[in-house]
Amino acid sequence: MHNEWVVTFVAIPESWRGRALVVESMEGALEEWFSETEIAEAAALVRLRRREEWLLSRYAVKRLAMARGVPIDPRAIVIRRPRLANGSWISISHSRGVAAAAVDDTPVGIDVERLRPVDERVARHFMVEDEIAEMRGCRIPNRILHWWCAKEAAWKQQGGATRFLKQVPLRLEAESETALHFGNVETHAAGEFVMALTVGSPAPRDEATTLPTS
Ligand SMILES: CC(C)(COP(=O)(O)OP(=O)(O)OC[C@H]1O[C@@H](n2cnc3c(N)ncnc32)[C@H](O)[C@@H]1OP(=O)(O)O)[C@@H](O)C(=O)NCCC(=O)NCCS
Repeated sequence: MHNEWVVTFVAIPESWRGRALVVESMEGALEEWFSETEIAEAAALVRLRRREEWLLSRYAVKRLAMARGVPIDPRAIVIRRPRLANGSWISISHSRGVAAAAVDDTPVGIDVERLRPVDERVARHFMVEDEIAEMRGCRIPNRILHWWCAKEAAWKQQGGATRFLKQVPLRLEAESETALHFGNVETHAAGEFVMALTVGSPAPRDEATTLPTS
């Protein structure tokens, strides 16, 4: 990992500004952003990609927290899910060199995925029949990644309270050229990425959903 990076922001919808940040690189030296403890924690991660994504996602949280008015040295911002010391809720995601953070006053969930071909037959592993039918009606490119991101973001907002994504219900409300809107989460496609951010409070969990057998 280089110590000096030039920051690269991934475009997010206007309505997400101040609650979410998606970055491909960070600005400044590691020591400007991270405490010695955090640098040691990252260094202990064996896989280089994991280490880079760990740092990049924490950088995004710190940057967003500061933009929201946390008036302290970024090195002093301790990141422990689900909340920062000031009470703000946080969520983290990373995927193949990109990282996303969400910070909000209420529980929040975010997910980002780098575009890649995904066989829609995997849908049965994380979506119920009604959702698969709704997805098949979507015209948006990479539709399965939009549904996957939305489920992941909603799951994280619930603090991972269910074992399976099938138990996190989604109901499609609207579709645009770049986005899907569900009641409690919305997705967005930008360049090589699909991302999702929750809106409002967590939806009730579906405890009754039949769990997958494979
Ligand atoms: C754990 C899981 C969220 C990882 O998702 P992913 O897309 O591979 O990775 P992401 O980078 O988007 O998310 C990872 C982040 O989720 C966050 N996360 C993990 N558990 C969480 C929880 N219980 N609540 C909220 N956020 C959580 C962490 O911050 C983690 O990043 P970190 O390890 O650097 O701290 C996902 O694999 C998962 O288990 N999903 C739901 C369960 C499920 O149905 N699994 C089977 C799918 S078929």
